[in-house]
Amino acid sequence: MVFCAIGCSEMDKHDDTRTVQSGPNAHKYEGAVTVPIFTTSTFAFESSDAVEAYNRDPSGHYLYTRYANPTIVAVEQTVADLERAEASLLFASGMAAITSSVLAIVRNGDKIVTTPSLYGGTRKFFRDILPRYGIEVAFAPGNAVDDVRPLIDSRTKLLYLESPANPHAEVLDVKALAATAKERGIVSAIDATFATPILMKPYVIGIDLVIHSCTKYLGGHADLIGGVVSSNLKTIKKVEEYRRTLGGVIDPEGASRVGRGLKTLAVRMDRHCANGMQVAQALQKSEKVTELFYPGLPDSPWHTLAKEQMTGFGGMICLTLRGGLPSAKRFVDALRLIINAPSLGGVESLASIPVLTSHVNMSPEELRLSRVNEGMVRLSIGIESATDLIADVLQALAAV
Ligand SMILES: Cc1ncc(COP(=O)(O)O)c(C=O)c1O
Repeated sequence: MVFCAIGCSEMDKHDDTRTVQSGPNAHKYEGAVTVPIFTTSTFAFESSDAVEAYNRDPSGHYLYTRYANPTIVAVEQTVADLERAEASLLFASGMAAITSSVLAIVRNGDKIVTTPSLYGGTRKFFRDILPRYGIEVAFAPGNAVDDVRPLIDSRTKLLYLESPANPHAEVLDVKALAATAKERGIVSAIDATFATPILMKPYVIGIDLVIHSCTKYLGGHADLIGGVVSSNLKTIKKVEEYRRTLGGVIDPEGASRVGRGLKTLAVRMDRHCANGMQVAQALQKSEKVTELFYPGLPDSPWHTLAKEQMTGFGGMICLTLRGGLPSAKRFVDALRLIINAPSLGGVESLASIPVLTSHVNMSPEELRLSRVNEGMVRLSIGIESATDLIADVLQALAAV
């Protein structure tokens, strides 16, 4: 059963309001201000006739939590409302959202065209798993329309993107890429985890399927694993068939935590963006930093695109330290406040070395194409005091 979000936001509300108060389920359950956690795997029917009626038309009744559950649906409606999409589906992880969505679009003999800057798990799915099922994945040599366009042929069914992309926070020209997919009659999908629905609206820009790992900013507190996909109703119905059969649905408690995280998403993103900018500016002054990637910096090659396409630059910073891996390790180990941990998007700041985490086990050629080097450190800037964060990165740089 898929619930359409269109209609639940008659007013032209702002995102700050939509995150907190959204969805027709609000206050429906005994006046509860928050949607309760429906800790049930199955739902009772009054009669066998009612089961038959459900089989004819599932709207208006729940059957089994792997298919749908009121807690999960309420959060899905909030995400769809934020994306301005027709419907959303929550998954047990970002990877479950990605794999089920892609499998719902392509079949044996089809081809996917994708860009080189991808989260490691997605790359593994494309490189190692899909070809076993007769699905070809063509990796473009770069992230621009001109890199992608020549690879699209009559077998291509999907253009898969990530923006801002791991680990540099590279901003792709999403509008132009979406238009290219439309022009060629293929589906476009984007992993917009770094941006969140607050900073970018890919569905409005023209992308067909928008995916987020809820584990990151949407949850926001490093206490859950989840994923979500948003699209039009027809596509979401297709993806839902895969979710119920592959079984990657989120559990109601996880969904409730995503819903709780969403309520503060707009506020948190303001702070992530403000802190990201201040930490990037502080890093810019160091001679030990040979490359610095933050789309908010005016000299970033992606600054203009980010300004056009997004409403903020986010909290992800990537830097390269002079001296390669030993320097990167020394810097991360010297951090006192920022935690040495993979992942991103939580209230606490994290640091990770891509060649040891997200890009571990990649061939030198893959690292070259992804423009990842051994001296690189990725920072996920949290919502702590910017002054404290800057003091921490400066003292760690002094140790390098
Ligand atoms: C950009 C991006 N997409 C997808 C994922 C996968 O999400 P999950 O860990 O929730 O499966 C990650 C995980 O780090 C990520 O960084």
